Order: sequence, then structure tokens, then C-alpha cells
Amino acid sequence: MAGLHFGWWTDEGEALTSRAASKSVRPALALLACQAVAGDQQAARGPATAVELVHNASLLHDDLIDRDRLRRGRPALWAAKGDPAALLAGDALFFAAVQTLTDVPDADRTVPVLLAAVQVLIEGEYLDTLMKAGTEASEDRAMTVAAGKTGALLACACELGAIAGGAQPARAKRLRLFGHHLGIAFQCVDDVLGLWGESADTGKPTLSDLRSRKVTLPVAAAMASNTPQAQALRALYRQDSPLGAEECQHGRKLIDQVGGKEATLRRARRHTSHALYHLAQSGPEPAAAADLTALANMLISRDH
Ligand code: FPP
Ligand code: MG
Repeated sequence: MAGLHFGWWTDEGEALTSRAASKSVRPALALLACQAVAGDQQAARGPATAVELVHNASLLHDDLIDRDRLRRGRPALWAAKGDPAALLAGDALFFAAVQTLTDVPDADRTVPVLLAAVQVLIEGEYLDTLMKAGTEASEDRAMTVAAGKTGALLACACELGAIAGGAQPARAKRLRLFGHHLGIAFQCVDDVLGLWGESADTGKPTLSDLRSRKVTLPVAAAMASNTPQAQALRALYRQDSPLGAEECQHGRKLIDQVGGKEATLRRARRHTSHALYHLAQSGPEPAAAADLTALANMLISRDH
């Protein structure tokens, strides 16, 4: 089942050679954070694997919760194989992640970091589902969701990589802050792509967030504007059923008109700057710093 989710093979068990794969942002961060503190990248293989496994576990559960049928251009596992398959495959990947860390040195330092991040991830996701009903619509809430469901694991990836590289706690915390802000910037862009991206690029259904009346960052920014469009958007969100295709188009236009997209992209750039500030404060090795900076800039200019 996990192989189906990762796109390793077809339903019939045939190996898939061309497939849309994960961007592997989290493992890349773990490996580079390790290098940034002059560690041997090999030491960060366990943490890199663990954060990617947790990420995929969370996506399996998230698609089920969101009832989104498409992931990486393929059917989400719940849609292909049913809810129990997605639920249990997610559980299995989560336990495999913990196992990966218990098998390597520093487990007493790394496992608690991973478990704390997952706790925040779960809280962020739950808050997201509450906001879906439109009852908790505020920019602060949307930011808490972004920091929880995305910032926590990117922060964890960086901290675990730094620990594997032998960093002292203060240095590992600096890299953790780098990941935290990068995660918020990442989610800002993700929310923008959910509204204005192309499904062919993102591999996910476009406008699904609007359809289910999720208060993502561009929506929260638009609602915070004191405008007739904000009122109209709130009225749309007060409906007690999913929005239809025309209502989604209309909602997106309202958000655009009051600058919800631009405000969110500005926020993404601001958090990337914060991230790069903390990276610099960590006294990183130059080559790793250059790669982390390139990765950060790539993440806010991506189309998928
Ligand atoms: C995607 O958000 C969701 C997440 C990044 C986190 C989901 C977290 C959980 C389900 C809790 C943790 C669970 C386990 C098993 C570790 P999104 O819906 O905005 O993004 P999308 O458009 O890619 O679906
Ligand atoms: Mg989702």
C-alpha cells in the first residue's frame, strides 16, 4: 500500500519508472543542516528518512481528512484502496519513522524532537479542520495552522540534521528556527498554489481548499480586509455545504481583488528572510549555506 502511495508500483505490482515523486524537501533539509554544522552527511541518513516517512504518513491521513482524491498526479490511497488502507499505511509509516531513529545514535536526543514535532503537526491539522467550517477565520489562526502543519516538521528536519552533525543545542536551535520560518513560507506558497496553481503542475486538485471552505492564508488575508469583497467571501463561507465550481471561481476572484494572493506571497518572502537570518546566525559551512539559501529561494518561486 505504501508503495502505491509513493508511486513505486502499479496496482498490479508492476514497477513504475516515470512517476511524480516527492520533492524531498524535508530530507534535503536534514542532510544540509548536518553539513551546515560540518557534520558528515551520512550521519543524517536516519533523520532524513524519518522526516520523509512522517511527512508521507501525514499526507496519507490528510488526503483522507480533506477527501482529496489526487496526490502527486495519482489517486490518493484512500480513493484507490479505501479509508482503512490509507489510515493504516499512514500509521505504519509513522512507526517506521520512529524505528528509523531508534536504530541510530543519539536516539535519546532525537526521538523526543520528532515526537514533539508530530504532536504540533497533529494540533495544526486539527485546527485546520476546525477552520474548514469557517468558524475560526482569522490570519492569526491561519498562521498557527501553517506553523503547526508545515513549520513543525521542517524545523524538526533541520534540528535533527544538526544534531546528527554533532551541533551543540544552541546551534541546532538556530537551524530549527531556519526550518520553522521556511515551513511557514512554504505553506504560504502552498496555499497560493491551491488557489491559482495548475493541477497538472501541483499533482493536486485545484480549488479544493475553496470548495471545502478552508480558511487558508490568502482567504484569511482577504477576509481581514475591510471591503465588500471580504463580506461577500464570508457569506460564501457561511454556507453549510461545499462550494460549487462557479462559487469557487467567484470566491477566488474576490480574494484576488482584495490582494489576498499578493499579501500571502509577501508573507512568504518575509518568512524566507527570517529563515535566512537564522541560518546566518548558525554560523553555517559556506557550501551548505549556499545550498540551503538556494533551496529556500526555490521553494518560494515554485509552481508545484
Ligand atoms: C497538508 O496540508 C497537511 C499536512 C502537511 C499535515 C497533516 C498532518 C496530520 C494528518 C497529522 C499527523 C499525522 C501523522 C500520521 C504523522 P494541506 O491539506 O494544506 O496540503 P495539501 O494541499 O498538500 O493537501
Ligand atoms: Mg490536504
